[in-house]
Amino acid sequence: MNILVTGGCGFIGANFLRRMVPRHPEHQFLNLDALTYAGNPLSLQEIEDLPNYDFAKVNLAHSADTHQVVEAFQPDWVIHFAAETHVDRSIKFPGDFIQSNIIGTYNLLESCRTIWSDQFEGRIFHHVSTDEVFGELGETGAFSETTPYDPSSPYSASKASSDHLVRAWNHTYGLPVKITNCSNNYGPYQFPEKLIPVMVLKGLTMEPLPVYGKGANIRDWLFVNDHVDAIWTVLERGEIGETYAIGGNSERTNLQVVEGICRSLAQLTNSSEDQYLQLISFVADRPGHDFRYAIDASKIREKLGWEPSVTFEEGLHQTVEWYLQNPEWINSVKTGAYREWIDTHYGKGVNS
Ligand code: DAU
Repeated sequence: MNILVTGGCGFIGANFLRRMVPRHPEHQFLNLDALTYAGNPLSLQEIEDLPNYDFAKVNLAHSADTHQVVEAFQPDWVIHFAAETHVDRSIKFPGDFIQSNIIGTYNLLESCRTIWSDQFEGRIFHHVSTDEVFGELGETGAFSETTPYDPSSPYSASKASSDHLVRAWNHTYGLPVKITNCSNNYGPYQFPEKLIPVMVLKGLTMEPLPVYGKGANIRDWLFVNDHVDAIWTVLERGEIGETYAIGGNSERTNLQVVEGICRSLAQLTNSSEDQYLQLISFVADRPGHDFRYAIDASKIREKLGWEPSVTFEEGLHQTVEWYLQNPEWINSVKTGAYREWIDTHYGKGVNS
């Protein structure tokens, strides 16, 4: 089978390919990635020479390029990870999110509709999406597949739009789609703009740890390989036209997460936890900051038998350890563009 993976140099896509390419030599994988600031080919170094893996640099917002490469590869399955994913960036540069997440998804859907027009049987367009399309929760309750859409940020609105496009292509043209909406992922190879890698990297250099507001916002954390396995489960056993909500059943306040990172850093560097805890610095809140996300994953658990395998504490410790052991990867993402973002977003005072 030919499997097209978009955004395979990003965090979740790269972890997907690193896990699935060696496990499935019977399938041919093609990774399409635009290699924007967060896409790092170094994340795929271990698989890049495998005979069932190939890469093409393509920006999905360019329809002719997208169509050409999709037509040449003739995929049976498409797994669509490619997206701009960082909420804070979407507040500053919303246009990039419209291009990548909405136009990019539209172009990919159209390419698949064209090349699959003779036969939809056996084909899958799997759209990887987020729980942020549902908006925010108060102290109680959880999102599920039937929660109405209510996105808050330019990022979540662009992902909600892409979900609607994917469903419309199924409803109108019969395109064989599946959608997954997942909670916050963490693990190796995550670009250091998201909470966990930002804190780990700043902790390592003893810089202030910038917690938004009071650190009371809550996220439901899932180890990235558990997400990857959930996607593969849905590909193999999920129903066409269905949506599956995926979560880690691990709700933590942001402050709890940062304290956990301080604990792991202290253990791994054989030093005192207090010296890291003292770095915690409460900074201006994110505009329109969603208070809480939580997922009721009973559908995927009961119908497909998937559940997370790693506890948050284990996964967080492994993740911190990974960043400590991979300075080469960290240096490779600290480009000019990265420094610029860190300086403009947090201000030089917090980070220099
Ligand atoms: O829920 C799934 C979503 O999770 C994904 O769709 C998004 O692509 C992904 O970025 C993530 O969105 P969040 O906004 O929840 O993730 P982020 O890591 O940016 O922030 C997590 C929480 O930590 C959030 O409440 C904001 C807070 N935060 C974040 C950063 C970067 C801080 O307090 N300080 C920080 O420096």
